Amino acid sequence: MEEQRPSWTSRCSFILAAVGSAVGLGNIWRFPYIMGQNGGAVFLAVYLLLIMTICFIPLFAELAVGKITKKECIGAYESVNPKLKFFGVLNPITGILISSFYFIVGGWIINYIFLGFINPKISDYSEYFSIFTNEAFSNCVYALIFLFICILFSARGIKRGIEFANNFLMPLFAVILIGLIIFSVNLPNAYLGIEYMFKPDFSKLNSHLFLSALGQALFTLSIGMGAILTYGSYIKEDKGIAKSAYTIIISDTLFALMAGVMIFPAIYSFGLEPNSGAGLVFVTLPYIFSQMPHGDIVSIAFFVLLLAAAITSGISIIEVPIAALVERAKFSRTKACVVLYFIISAIAIPAALSFGILNDFRICQKTIFDFLDFITSNCLMPLNALFLCLIAGWCIKISGKQFINNNIVAALFDIGLRYIVPIILIFLLYVGLK
Ligand code: PHE
Repeated sequence: MEEQRPSWTSRCSFILAAVGSAVGLGNIWRFPYIMGQNGGAVFLAVYLLLIMTICFIPLFAELAVGKITKKECIGAYESVNPKLKFFGVLNPITGILISSFYFIVGGWIINYIFLGFINPKISDYSEYFSIFTNEAFSNCVYALIFLFICILFSARGIKRGIEFANNFLMPLFAVILIGLIIFSVNLPNAYLGIEYMFKPDFSKLNSHLFLSALGQALFTLSIGMGAILTYGSYIKEDKGIAKSAYTIIISDTLFALMAGVMIFPAIYSFGLEPNSGAGLVFVTLPYIFSQMPHGDIVSIAFFVLLLAAAITSGISIIEVPIAALVERAKFSRTKACVVLYFIISAIAIPAALSFGILNDFRICQKTIFDFLDFITSNCLMPLNALFLCLIAGWCIKISGKQFINNNIVAALFDIGLRYIVPIILIFLLYVGLK
């Protein structure tokens, strides 16, 4: 039976869902750790430059293609030209690969919520983090629980599940973050963290840093795997795409900056290493909480809200393959959710085990987890964004004038979409992967 396409109740609910998709683990977990591995302030400078200039264009284009074609990714590209179908298929594949590591990190949050309740006396959080991620069973089970929660929300349909989390929980999350920032910047030696974040050393600039910054910018804005395109295809009304794109970029950047200002001062204050990788936030935050009055309660509140942010993003990641299964394979939404649960689990379990028993299994010298993160953010997402710009600019011939009132901005958009952004993406992919 053919299911009716879902749609947003209002423009506001669409914007909230798109912001909910953007703001998630990418801001709080991935941004500080990638920045820590890439020299701090110099990475931030490149990242902000990319976010404020070129990322607007693919974000806008995804929204527009979704809105114009009213189809999920594969159908959207196919409706332009059947030969383009392959480029559409890459999007849900990227989504499945992203899910396979994103849901593991979501599982860590659930673990930390329990930790807040049990409140054991832990003196070394780095050791705690490596012990629990090494433990095959719990690392897998928590990831599968997180995946189950997102799938459950998705199975209930896009509106009911996401709107509550976005309307009420995100503003509350911002309030907690501000409280933690105030605490963090008042710790001893906090100024070293602020310097690390805002005093760039441009001698550290290199091509890999540019590619990492681009990967992070695309990842955090949810561009380059069809999530925004799919959400855009559920919009009913005709106006406001440019405003939506700005809102997504600004809110997402604010959350990332807040996460940085919360984490880096604390890292320096507690004598931790900023370049310690994926566990960075999960090691630093418990130290902050352990030093705070009522830290156990703040910790539970923080991780519950982070979980809500991660769920709204997780839902948007799986929405891409779900929409493809529902609209292309004519699955019911429930059946699509069940099938996807098994597919993602099959990839997520080896990735979860790569912290422990599969740690020696390397692909391009990376563990399965790191490889999935790298291949999606630094390769597939830029590639998908490139194909999107080319298809939107040259095949669908989207013009800025359709959506933007200002003629100069509209003309700049057209040039950016057809020439500048594709050239930059090709260049960054080329030099970064060389
Ligand atoms: N932007 C999300 C985050 O920052 C992750 C995401 C990536 C969501 C790609 C959808 C698509 O956590």
